Amino acid sequence: MRHLDELSDEELADLYEYPGNGESAVVRTNFVSTLDGSATGDDGRSGSINDDADHRVFEALRALCDTVVIGAGTARDEGYGRLRTPDAWADVREAHGLAEHPLLILVSRSLDLPEKVLDAAPGAGGLMVLTTEDADPGAVSALGALLGPHNVLRAGRGSVDLVSATEELAGRGLRRLLCEGGPQLMNDLCRADLVDELCLSLAPLLVGGHGPRVAAGAPLRTRMRLAHALRSDGSLLTRWTRA
Ligand SMILES: NC(=O)c1ccc[n+]([C@@H]2O[C@H](COP(=O)([O-])OP(=O)(O)OC[C@H]3O[C@@H](n4cnc5c(N)ncnc54)[C@H](OP(=O)(O)O)[C@@H]3O)[C@@H](O)[C@H]2O)c1
Repeated sequence: MRHLDELSDEELADLYEYPGNGESAVVRTNFVSTLDGSATGDDGRSGSINDDADHRVFEALRALCDTVVIGAGTARDEGYGRLRTPDAWADVREAHGLAEHPLLILVSRSLDLPEKVLDAAPGAGGLMVLTTEDADPGAVSALGALLGPHNVLRAGRGSVDLVSATEELAGRGLRRLLCEGGPQLMNDLCRADLVDELCLSLAPLLVGGHGPRVAAGAPLRTRMRLAHALRSDGSLLTRWTRA
């Protein structure tokens, strides 16, 4: 098994190149989990269970995507703001024909979204919101006024119809999707049979408690197969693809 430190950033980018024909969307998901299956540490966030090795792969995955998709719970709990590409990954994005910064997409029914992520940030990527057709009309039009109507996408009733939303994104040229969580959105993506890849970092920790697993919600059964594993001095970096 190769050690992460043996790979340059370019080699890491080659290893995690998006598969596919460039026409349909590819949904890659990325999570960190402790050895006892928790997606969070005792502070209820993932930042307390990841390490430098996980962070390096996290940045490589961002460098290769058109858009980072997250559930609103993750935006609220993890304090997301607009996305900025670190200088070290700018050339990789350019070489892959990607925009300077990834677009951030939030999935929400309630449209209870934190100010921090709604605020446009100079020199950072844009924001799109995926919500339902029965979302509060006042909140939808306020968001449309803030972000531009084409950046508020509605699909499905009750829950976002992730299949048609993904098709719409692909039609707009947003095909390399990276879902950074959280567990409820992951569950819904699995149930919609949309998860093409899971990049899972196993943190060398057991934390007990009642933290969520990387997929949380109604039971499901999604079989994956190991594509590769990289060792590091801390986390084990694995990549699983659709079986
Ligand atoms: N270990 C990791 O790698 C990792 C990664 C991400 C998050 N996390 C952790 O996970 C926790 C958050 O968990 P979570 O399950 O709340 O996260 P989540 O899936 O990001 O958020 C759930 C919320 O997202 C929206 N949502 C998800 N699927 C939807 C759908 N199909 N249609 C419409 N809305 C949908 C809803 O937002 P509204 O409530 O606005 O309607 C829902 O309440 C935090 O502790 C975070 O730190 C860990």
